[in-house]
Amino acid sequence: MTVVVDHIGLLVTNDEALGEGPLGVVKDAALVIEDGRVAAVERAGAAADQRIDAAGRCVIPGFVDSHTHLVFAGDRGDEFAARMAGAPYAAGGIRVTTDATRAASTEELAALAAARKREAHRAGITHLEIKSGYGLDVETERRSCEVAAQLTDDVTFLGAHVVPAGYEADDYVALVTGDMLGACAPLARWIDVFCEDGAFDADQSRAVLEAGRAAGLGLRVHGNQLGPGPGVQLAVELGAASVDHCTYLTDADVDALAGSDTVATFLPATDFSTRQPYPDARRVLDAGATVAIATNCNPGSSYTTSMAFCLALAVRDMGMTTEEALLAATRGGARALRRTDVGHLAPGARADLAILDAPSYSHLVYRPGVPLVAGTLVGGRRLA
Ligand code: NIG
Repeated sequence: MTVVVDHIGLLVTNDEALGEGPLGVVKDAALVIEDGRVAAVERAGAAADQRIDAAGRCVIPGFVDSHTHLVFAGDRGDEFAARMAGAPYAAGGIRVTTDATRAASTEELAALAAARKREAHRAGITHLEIKSGYGLDVETERRSCEVAAQLTDDVTFLGAHVVPAGYEADDYVALVTGDMLGACAPLARWIDVFCEDGAFDADQSRAVLEAGRAAGLGLRVHGNQLGPGPGVQLAVELGAASVDHCTYLTDADVDALAGSDTVATFLPATDFSTRQPYPDARRVLDAGATVAIATNCNPGSSYTTSMAFCLALAVRDMGMTTEEALLAATRGGARALRRTDVGHLAPGARADLAILDAPSYSHLVYRPGVPLVAGTLVGGRRLA
């Protein structure tokens, strides 16, 4: 069956061969979808079995959210309020969520994570990576990966999120790289480590990543979030797909990113919510590195599914243009997940898109805080 999204005032394809500029913009377009994939970009008025009328509005590729922690129980609103009153953010807050997550049944965790995924769809996110990392014992990490795997094929095992109470760091790393990895690797595509003061140092992080790679997982790193550190260099050295946060970068870090295939993923809602400085994305882009923007939806440092909010911060405070920010949250997210099927709307791509209640994508930034996503299609099916 063919579906056409018709009368699109402004279609962003992210393919320069299809339209104008780096976003590949086509005016007065119709997007033809067959079997869940983009079949063609045509002039408005194209024929199809089923028609969705965009009524002159803007259509963009769905956001690809390459960094989320959707599997958790509990609430840390008090911690956020304390931070707004001056308390600093610390990695140790993760343990609060760990207690609540361990206490929740798998069914409860699945219901909570699925509700957050629905919320993300309503915000125009059409593909997400989901991490474990609030279990920190073999069984709860395995259950978390199982829940994540019901919601995405980009599951990340993050047993090395923080050292749980009752463990010495090296003993915990031995557990993560041993029994926990054995239980979680079959459910995951990626392994991640929080390489930061208060979490895991460079040697421990390397041990986690090398064990993950030996188990067949791709590599991701949380790095340079709370201060300068070894995360970026380690990620580049080991060929990680992405190093995420990148709030504190040295010149050597920027050079290393620019000379690598490792995507620098910015999480600006985290810097907002933890009162950190914003990273200088301009410097990273000008150096030639590939960048992504993700929500980092989690209960401690960034409890949002609003990619539009992240875009607004990136443009307002990180030196990105609106076009660069939109590319980073779509095609950049796909690159951070090493995928070519999402993040663009060229023929062959998964028909993942957001219809905006606006004439241009620029309104995502120009009208901050306004829910502009009027419809979300995933694989050609309307989900929101
Ligand atoms: O990406 N940095 C580590 N992990 C999360 C925070 C988790 C939490 O505070 O619960 C992050 O910001």
